[in-house]
Amino acid sequence: MTDEKRIERLSAMLKRRGIVLPAFEIYGGVSGLIDYGPVGASIRRRVIQNWVEHWTINGDIVEIDSPTITPEPVLVASGHVGEFNDLMTQCGKCSAAFRADQLAENNHPNPEILEANEIDEILISNEIECPNCGDKNWTPSKPMNLMFGTKIGAMRASRQAYMRPETAQGMFMLYPSLYRHFRQKLPFGAIQTGKGYRNEISPRQGMIRLREFNMAELEYFIDPENPPVIDLSMKKEIVSFIPDPHGEDYKEVKISFSEAIDQGVMKDHTVAYFLSRTLDFLINVGINPSKIRFRQHEGTEMAHYAEDCWDCEIFGEHGWIECVGIANRTCHDLLSHEKHSNSNSLRAWREFDEPKTDTKEVLAPNTSILGPMFRGKAGLVLESLKQLDELPDNFPFELQIKDGTKVEITEEMVERKTIHTSIAGEWFTPHVIEPAFGIDRIIWHILDHAYEETEKEGEKYNLLRLSESIAPVDLIVLPLFEKEGMGETARKLNLQINQIKGVISSIDSSKSIGRRYARADEIGIPWAVTVDHISLEDETVTVRRRDDQKQVRTEIQLLLNLIRLGNVSSLF
Ligand code: ATP
Ligand code: GLY
Repeated sequence: MTDEKRIERLSAMLKRRGIVLPAFEIYGGVSGLIDYGPVGASIRRRVIQNWVEHWTINGDIVEIDSPTITPEPVLVASGHVGEFNDLMTQCGKCSAAFRADQLAENNHPNPEILEANEIDEILISNEIECPNCGDKNWTPSKPMNLMFGTKIGAMRASRQAYMRPETAQGMFMLYPSLYRHFRQKLPFGAIQTGKGYRNEISPRQGMIRLREFNMAELEYFIDPENPPVIDLSMKKEIVSFIPDPHGEDYKEVKISFSEAIDQGVMKDHTVAYFLSRTLDFLINVGINPSKIRFRQHEGTEMAHYAEDCWDCEIFGEHGWIECVGIANRTCHDLLSHEKHSNSNSLRAWREFDEPKTDTKEVLAPNTSILGPMFRGKAGLVLESLKQLDELPDNFPFELQIKDGTKVEITEEMVERKTIHTSIAGEWFTPHVIEPAFGIDRIIWHILDHAYEETEKEGEKYNLLRLSESIAPVDLIVLPLFEKEGMGETARKLNLQINQIKGVISSIDSSKSIGRRYARADEIGIPWAVTVDHISLEDETVTVRRRDDQKQVRTEIQLLLNLIRLGNVSSLF
């Protein structure tokens, strides 16, 4: 069960403290659009930074960046123009529009797999009420494309385009460059972070369903006949899987990744590997592992491009929410872009273990006879002989040449020969495994899992137990008072800390020290450094740990060294 009051208090805190706020609020706001304020923007940047580092650490994955405005032909080829739809229905009375499957959520275990008429039937037979006006009449559900259209250029010279609904197409467009970058050797991957746009029919649940949101996607290109060798035997942690029930009831199994492979719960090793790396990332940024599960899509639920798909769902105040989709997109996109663009650059070369020998019967021309006989047409005759798929059984025979005419070929003009050609390899279209992360949904759950309401001296006290790597700042420096040089010493120390690469420190000298500790705890700053009278005499400060509010006194130089080493916790 979710706690509406807790969501309200958490959302109010996020707004008050400049973490996440409704966008354009002075004009009444727009549902599905949010701002990250001064504290939230830093959390967002650090989550994305962690994500980029998580995937690029091995060297087989690189980061790219491509436009958010996408010309129509790209999204025709990808299938988004034709198929990126949700079913929409409107209230017969107030005309409010809703996603039809969401209205049926309480009356079917997974309405996303249903056809329009099946959902309509559920809405009618269960007398589902309009959330807006309470009426029970619904228009027949019909597909609505979710992309925001736009134009490139002006007037008649303009071209139809869309704001990208996913970042993935950027990686497919750059495939030839990636192939060169990785010296024509699979597997390799590319990541991209940035905005994605979807004109969601009925945005709700705050940061969960936005119309402009932060995506982080990885496309990993593999040879399906020589997939990467993956060893999951070390992955012993117990994880919750919900495999495709194939029409039966969903069943959850709690096993390790290696057991999931051994027991056939997961068949594709590469997909399983990316699930396990997804789990590692989520735990590193502070998601509670007991609130993570992987659910496989049912056949009809899958996106138009996917062959196998697992959602990583996280539990929080809104229930179980998909936060990452991990799909086997096969060769769908590269193949389709090749066809639509008439290019042949979206392939990879597969070398055979042993060169193959191709044996072919040919008719080798006797040019001393063919030349004088056909004169100007001799070249065309030679070309057509070379291209003959099937050799004739008898002579003479008629040969069709390129200018549309036919010539007679007699036995003396050619010699039947067997030729052997060595073939080293072949061209093929790589397959793609794609983990697609919704950063805003992940940030919501990080905040949800980290938010703790306690009491201190009879008063409500909020604590955000953010993991150190994504806290809005690493430390806050607090002069006990502004006077007697404490303020100046604190500012000097703050500057020294900020000069350490990758470390962010801020300073707060407003109001009582207790209020300042509380403010720092509420936005999740892990360490508070207090400059007091003693600091001025012996160059020491107190360091306070957010999570248990313990304090220790230490020399400034030692603290600076520990900050450099990322090991302030060793003081405790
Ligand atoms: P849903 O079924 O919830 O609409 P989806 O299946 O369309 O999601 P994907 O297309 O797989 O989602 O997108 C990849 C990820 O992007 C999702 O796992 C989710 O975290 C995020 N995402 C998708 N739509 C939104 C949205 N409207 N607002 C915020 N994040 C989103
Ligand atoms: N690229 C994954 C998605 O948009 O669903």
